[in-house]
Amino acid sequence: MRTLPTLIAPSILSADFSRLGEAVELVQDAGADMIHVDVMDGHFVPNLTIGPPVVRALARIARVPLDVHLMISNADDTLAWYLDAGAQMLTVHAEACTHLHRVVAAIHAAGAKAGVALNPGTPVEVLSEVIAELDLVLVMSVDPGFAGQTFIPSMPHKIARLSALCVETGSHAAIAVDGGIDIRTAPLVTSAGANILVAGNAVFGAPDPAGALAAIRAAADTRIV
Ligand code: DX5
Ligand code: ZN
Repeated sequence: MRTLPTLIAPSILSADFSRLGEAVELVQDAGADMIHVDVMDGHFVPNLTIGPPVVRALARIARVPLDVHLMISNADDTLAWYLDAGAQMLTVHAEACTHLHRVVAAIHAAGAKAGVALNPGTPVEVLSEVIAELDLVLVMSVDPGFAGQTFIPSMPHKIARLSALCVETGSHAAIAVDGGIDIRTAPLVTSAGANILVAGNAVFGAPDPAGALAAIRAAADTRIV
């Protein structure tokens, strides 16, 4: 198994939307490695959040990369909006892209890092033909759409299979996990091979978000192998 340093990506989906700038500053000062931005269209997922104008505003104040997670049906047609708005990392869903290889190439052509997300019910094998091109694979450990859901216990096993697929294919893709990450689940996923942890509620729902971020990082580094 590959062991890479753990990076923490707080998800602003759980922040106070009337004070997003302050939320970003807070987690940046607390050592966040990137800012995870959840874009939902009310179609691919049953929720509606933010779009390019908010990504553009966040890009003006972000000192770490914006990690934009597109939970939208028409990523093939609209991903340029998010790249123009300042997304340095752009993740699309395998289930929502007809031309996944072309989408990944378009993200790279814009100079951004390309990620592909997998819903809990999607097997890692769907990525076998593109994984060598990817900068990251995002394993959804809840069904996407909402913050604060319960981690699906079988996901560490899926992460381990994905890690093995990376080794087998020579892929250097980072493995990110999104959904239900907290101090209890963080060591489960890093032990399985994940190295980017997205956390919404466990950071912004805590009374002390900076302390919560540090606690997740410490827990993540106590791998159980
Ligand atoms: C869920 C989103 C997540 C969400 C995670 O569909 O993609 O990024 O913010 O929130 P928590 O960490 O609360 O499960
Ligand atoms: Zn997300």
